[in-house]
Amino acid sequence: MESNFDVASIRKQFPILEQKVYGQPLVYLDNAATTQKPRCVVKRIEEAYFSHNANVHRAVHLLSQQATEAHEGARVVVQGFINAAESDEIVFTRGTTESINLVAFSFGEAFCREGDEILISSMEHHSNIVPWQLLCERKKMVLKVIPINDDGCLLLDEYAKLLGPKVKLLAITQISNVLGVENALGPIIELAHKQGIPVLVDGAQAVAHRPVDVQALDADFYTFSSHKIFGPTGVGVLYAKRFFLEKMPPYQGGGEMIDQVHFEKTTYNQIPFKFEAGTPDFIGTAALAEALRFIQKIGMDNIHAYERQLTDYALKELGKVEGFQLLGNIPDRHAIIPFQLKGIHAYDVGMMLDKLGIAVRTGHHCAQPLLERLGTGPCVRASFAFYNTTEEVYRLAAALRRIYKMFN
Ligand code: ALA
Repeated sequence: MESNFDVASIRKQFPILEQKVYGQPLVYLDNAATTQKPRCVVKRIEEAYFSHNANVHRAVHLLSQQATEAHEGARVVVQGFINAAESDEIVFTRGTTESINLVAFSFGEAFCREGDEILISSMEHHSNIVPWQLLCERKKMVLKVIPINDDGCLLLDEYAKLLGPKVKLLAITQISNVLGVENALGPIIELAHKQGIPVLVDGAQAVAHRPVDVQALDADFYTFSSHKIFGPTGVGVLYAKRFFLEKMPPYQGGGEMIDQVHFEKTTYNQIPFKFEAGTPDFIGTAALAEALRFIQKIGMDNIHAYERQLTDYALKELGKVEGFQLLGNIPDRHAIIPFQLKGIHAYDVGMMLDKLGIAVRTGHHCAQPLLERLGTGPCVRASFAFYNTTEEVYRLAAALRRIYKMFN
C-alpha cells in the first residue's frame, strides 16, 4: 500500500503500542471499543493536576480561573472540531451513552406525549436503543425500527414509509460499530426534516475517522465520546441546536445548573450549564481538547484517506485467508471489519489472536439486535485507527491462517 502518511512518527506518540503481549509486539485492533492516548493527552492531565487543579466556575482565585479557562476553552475547541454554530450548543457529558440518555429524558419531557413514536435503525448499538425504550415505557410511546437488508444496509424506502406525524425524533448512527457501514445521513436527515422531525446522530464511531460538520449535516443532536477519539475516559459531548436546548428541561439537578435556589422554587442556569449538574470532569475536557488539537495537526482528511486505504488493504489481504467470512456486503467500510473464521467460534479466534499479540473484540459488540437480524451469532471485529499499519494487517492475516490450520 502506497502512502505519504507518516505512521511511524505518529506511533511514537503512543507509548502503549511499543509493548509486547505474550512476547509478541502488540497489535491493537480494538479501536472501536476504545482508542489509545497520545503522550500530549496524558501530559495534559498531569499538567492540569499539578498546576491548576481547582473547581471551575466557582471561585475568584487564580487556580479556579485557570481551570475554568481550560474547561471553557475545551468547549470552544469541540465547537470548532465539529463546526457547531456556537459553543453554548456543546454540552459536556460522561460519554455518548449519557448524551443519548440526556436527550431521551429531556427531549422526551418537552416534546413527547403518549402514542408518539421514536424511530431508530436496526444497526444501533445498545446505547442508542435502550434510552429510547425507557422513554417509550415512561411515556407510553412506540419505538419503530428502520430495517436493513441481508447485506447490512438500511432500507431507505422502508425508512420513508415509517415517517409520519407521530414520529417525534429519529435517532441513528453515522457509522455502524459492527459493520463499519456509513449511513447516507444527508438524504436521511433531509427527508426527516421535510416532515418536521428532528434527528439525533450517534457519532461515536464516526468522529475519529472522518471530518464532521454538524451544520452541514443539519443534525439537531450529535453525540460522541472522548475515549473513542484519543481523549480520556469519562467525558463525552452532546451537540444540540440552541432551539432544543432552550426548550428542554434539565436532566439532572445540582450545582452549576442553577440560577437561584430557594426552597420554594429554583430557577435554572443558561445553556449549556443547565445540563451540567455538579462538578464537571474539567481535567478530562481539557485533555479531550488536547486530543482534538493533536488530530487537527495531523488533519482529519489525511486520517480519513489513510484509514480508507488501510481498510481496503485489510479487506483484500484478509479475503485471501482460507475460512475468512466477512459480515455484511457493504460497498464502503470505515475502519471496521467484522468476520468469522469458518467453523471456529469467535471467542476461540479472539483468544488465540490474543496469545499471538493481537487485540480484537469478540461477541455481539453491544449490538445484539443487529447480529440477531444478520443471523450470524457472535463475530470477531478488527477495528483500526490511524496508528495501525499494513504490517499489522499482515500479522492479523498470518495469525488467522495459523488458527484456521490448527482447527482443521
Ligand atoms: N460501543 C463500543 C464498541 O463498539 C463499546 O465496542
